[in-house]
Amino acid sequence: MPNPHASSAAEIILTVNGTPLRTQDGATIAAVLLNAGIPSRQSVNGEPRTALCGMGICFECRATVDGRPHTRTCQLPARNGMVVETNPQSDREPSR
Ligand code: FES
Repeated sequence: MPNPHASSAAEIILTVNGTPLRTQDGATIAAVLLNAGIPSRQSVNGEPRTALCGMGICFECRATVDGRPHTRTCQLPARNGMVVETNPQSDREPSR
């Protein structure tokens, strides 16, 4: 008997900080990072930051995706071959 809870989503591979990471097509990048225990970025004080609201409001999940800095990863489905960089210089908060 087939498992009714089994996922039929295709497996895809993202590159996160230079490391290949397997996940399922359709998961948001924020979910992929959370599941892997990878913070989205660091605050200016060096604290790890990660998705908070999950609906595009807080910007805590931002990372560079395919060269686009400050991408809200909770709003972007993961696709095969995407390249994600967490906490590159361009995604750091400005100094106050
Ligand atoms: S988690 Fe808040 S904007 Fe992405």
